[in-house]
Amino acid sequence: MSKLAVITGGTKGIGRAIVEKFAAERFDIVTCARNRNELESLKKYLESTFTMELFFLPIDMSVRTQVTAFIEFIHGLGRPVDVLVNNAGFFAPGQVLDEKSGALEAMMDANLYSAYHVTRGLAPDMKARKSGHIFSMCSVASIMAYPNGGSYSISKFALLGFSKVLRAELKDHGVRVTAVLPGATRTASWDGVELPDDRFIRPEDVADAVFDAYSLSPRSVVEEILIRPQLGDI
Ligand SMILES: NC(=O)c1ccc[n+]([C@@H]2O[C@H](COP(=O)([O-])OP(=O)(O)OC[C@H]3O[C@@H](n4cnc5c(N)ncnc54)[C@H](OP(=O)(O)O)[C@@H]3O)[C@@H](O)[C@H]2O)c1
Repeated sequence: MSKLAVITGGTKGIGRAIVEKFAAERFDIVTCARNRNELESLKKYLESTFTMELFFLPIDMSVRTQVTAFIEFIHGLGRPVDVLVNNAGFFAPGQVLDEKSGALEAMMDANLYSAYHVTRGLAPDMKARKSGHIFSMCSVASIMAYPNGGSYSISKFALLGFSKVLRAELKDHGVRVTAVLPGATRTASWDGVELPDDRFIRPEDVADAVFDAYSLSPRSVVEEILIRPQLGDI
């Protein structure tokens, strides 16, 4: 039977590139996003292009009960999860002193609590099997404060903290944990920003780095992947 990767937010951007990379490597994949139509067309595309199966659930990861439904959906497949990529999340620019009220709560829900709860649902089985790899899509904003980073940056610092804690807890249990910290990556998040493509990382490069980290022998773990545009941060 094929290996199984759970990749949240797989219809667009970085998540989509990671989904395509693992699909090309013949993984079956479970993903989620809010837009059902985009999930359906992703399934059609992947299954007609690669030798694999896509399972999906349209959910909002920032809603706890929907994350629980996603975990139950995955358990219902009755298959071990080999790879988990906590990718779903969003960026709203702003500054702590003047961003919209509720910005912190919304970004903590979508960028941190989603990953925390999905991981708590899936990692116990990895730990019991002494096998698995958990990636969390952090950011350069996880290590560097910058104007207009606001609550996004706070949520991404927290997600990096989460990944470090997980690494410490799981290192003796055969489960690898990797934090991915991309700089500006050309996805819909940057729509409207008038900069040449070469100022951005390609989502496919992030996906390749994730797959390469996964491909190491179980004796080694890449704890952090920090990727920047060759020309530096925007
Ligand atoms: N692009 C960058 O420069 C950059 C840099 C560093 C880190 N990151 C991080 O990388 C991750 C992906 O970013 P991206 O730029 O690829 O974003 P994107 O192009 O907007 O894609 C986000 C994906 O996640 C899904 N998603 C978003 N919110 C969701 C929610 N609440 N529940 C379920 N699914 C959700 C989206 O589908 P729906 O809209 O249908 O829900 C979509 O499939 C994020 O965590 C982001 O913070 C991005």
